[in-house]
Amino acid sequence: MRKLLESTAQRAIAYLEGIGDRSVAPSAEAVANLARLDEPFNDAPTSADQVIKMLDENCSPATTAMAGPRFFGFVIGGSLPVTVAANWLAGAWDQNSGLFTPTPATASLEQVALNWLLDLFNLPSDCGGGFVTGATMANFTALAAARRALLKRASWNVEADGLFGAPPITVVVGEEAHPTLFKSLGLLGLGRNRVVRVPVDSQGRMRADALPTLSGLTMLCVQAGNVNTGAFDPFPEICARAHEAGAWVHVDGAFGLWAAATASTSHLVAGLCDADSWATDCHKWLNVPYDSGIALVRDGEALRAAMAITADYLPTSEFRNPSDFTPELSRRARGVEVWAALRSLGRQGVSELVERNCRQARRFAEGLQTAGFKVLNDVVLNQVLVTFGDAETTNRVISEIQREGTCWCGGTVWQEQTAMRISVSSWATTDADVERSLEAMIRIAGR
Ligand SMILES: Cc1ncc(COP(=O)(O)O)c(C=O)c1O
Repeated sequence: MRKLLESTAQRAIAYLEGIGDRSVAPSAEAVANLARLDEPFNDAPTSADQVIKMLDENCSPATTAMAGPRFFGFVIGGSLPVTVAANWLAGAWDQNSGLFTPTPATASLEQVALNWLLDLFNLPSDCGGGFVTGATMANFTALAAARRALLKRASWNVEADGLFGAPPITVVVGEEAHPTLFKSLGLLGLGRNRVVRVPVDSQGRMRADALPTLSGLTMLCVQAGNVNTGAFDPFPEICARAHEAGAWVHVDGAFGLWAAATASTSHLVAGLCDADSWATDCHKWLNVPYDSGIALVRDGEALRAAMAITADYLPTSEFRNPSDFTPELSRRARGVEVWAALRSLGRQGVSELVERNCRQARRFAEGLQTAGFKVLNDVVLNQVLVTFGDAETTNRVISEIQREGTCWCGGTVWQEQTAMRISVSSWATTDADVERSLEAMIRIAGR
């Protein structure tokens, strides 16, 4: 076992050490070679060494260098080395971290990490929190608590009796809400289409003047950080009106919630602490390994009531049972990496990370504008939307940038304009990486 684990660690280290020097996208040849693994299921066992060798030799070259410094394709981070290491250790522990009693170490770390996150985001220290797979499930989990609390007001127990015959809930969302929010609403039986959509402005922000009159059982879903522009809904106006009407305000802050971590962007989240629930990701700006999302709910009892189960064979505890706050029972110990990232960076390190990535995004925008290209968004956070001309030209430039391999950016259509998205959220991105990527983008677009 020692030899296997040591040699695997060496392979992983070599992968990470080489990641800055390789093409960000895998070569077509490397992707084609994956077919080597598509073989009939073997009858005889294969040695562990051989299995790891097959993985490394066939799959490492076919990965996209998302852990590297010049992947700007989605709002995702790399993994801080301390979190990769913590992930290895937690993997060795193999704790099924749903219950405190059998897994006190990982359950305790999760509690500490939760306390620190609430502190970092300036949210009430007694919020309930669930460590889930990502923001999709964090939205789902928080909105399950919202559904529970709203229907309880109407004396309806949704967990026990379901939604058939339940009093209706009005769901209000911005026109530019993330598609996964609609998926979460669908999973909750609230419907992907059965929503009131509030018009947005040129940055994708909900227009407070277009908010409908709110009444009855209502969930208002606002957004902290639009996936294309990075824009924030105007929380102070919207939340005040929603609360006057007794609505539940939920914040999809998959990456935008992290704006609270540093002084230069904290104004963007002003008023957000008045909401009732929040969803965010740690596998985005905190730069921990996948998968790692967090659901936070002011009324922790509503979250527990929506998620907790009991069974005679499951031990109860006076301490926090992680699975009382999540859809899953058996689960990996996500809190370990979150704890490790926060403990390693400290408040200053998180602030510096967010600050640096935002500065780097502004530098991308400035460099592209100086080169004559049009930036479509106000760069308030870490997102840049740039167009290189008409849709065909922009798509061609995006494909060539991906093929050339210095960096990786994806495309989008923003309010009918085809654009390239640049998301800067990795701990590994240096200012030199930004300059190198800018040079490649401008050179390719100028051809
Ligand atoms: C605003 C927003 N919400 C939700 C999500 C979905 O997050 P995840 O992929 O972690 O489920 C994203 C992903 O980028 C996002 O930007």
